[in-house]
Amino acid sequence: MQLPAGWTAYHYEVLDSTNEQAKRLAKEGAADATLLWTDVQTNGKGRRGRVWETSAGEAVCMSLLLRPEFSPQWASMLTLVMGLSVVQALEKEFAVKTQIKWPNDVVLNQKKLSGILTEMELCENEIDYIVIGVGINTNQTGFAQELKDKATSLCLELGICVEQERLIGAVAECFWNNYQIFLETLDLRNIKDAYEAVMVNQNQPVRVLQPGNIYEGVAIGINAMGELLVEREDGVCEQVYAGEVSVRGLYSYV
Ligand code: BTN
Repeated sequence: MQLPAGWTAYHYEVLDSTNEQAKRLAKEGAADATLLWTDVQTNGKGRRGRVWETSAGEAVCMSLLLRPEFSPQWASMLTLVMGLSVVQALEKEFAVKTQIKWPNDVVLNQKKLSGILTEMELCENEIDYIVIGVGINTNQTGFAQELKDKATSLCLELGICVEQERLIGAVAECFWNNYQIFLETLDLRNIKDAYEAVMVNQNQPVRVLQPGNIYEGVAIGINAMGELLVEREDGVCEQVYAGEVSVRGLYSYV
């Protein structure tokens, strides 16, 4: 696999979670741009404390450890940078056109193909490390009953069986390119157009669910900080930083 210059890579047959392993490596002093992946992940973690199920050998499970010197407040944007990189890698290597459900679910035919979990550790208010974990459903031929309306794989949608390492290498390369662009400005201003072009929520009605604040509007894009811009019926434009955004028509949302 061709990786960007200066990267360190580790491949495992079995791990509990690539994010957990990346954190262990970080604590042992692993360098910036350490990439790891595993064939089998036994205890994958999703966002919001959920479990991320991956049947053995049928999905990409990778994590990238970064040790940047910028302020922690910029870190959440890396999740969007990685989401875009996954979309670009799938298009470049396999001519597969996917979309992003803001902020970072990669979807194919309205179902989730890939999820990203970014975790950060601080030391005296500075970034010690960031771990960006990526799961991509590639070769699964089916999903459990409770997932099958929401999740899909490249194999199920397109009948293709991908070589995981080829996809991992492509994601790494796309991320590295986008990351250099991000580092120039420490925001998404130069990536925003590419991101919006593949955003499944673009110009779509969305329901924003925030603690104590639930409203509907139309997603009109993202700003340079990666916040979702939602125009409410009264014309007021909200900038959504955190909170769950549900998109009508996606997964089993209505
Ligand atoms: C989500 O909930 O959408 C995020 C899922 C992230 C899953 C990936 S698989 C590789 C890495 N290791 C983990 O334990 N989680 C992430």
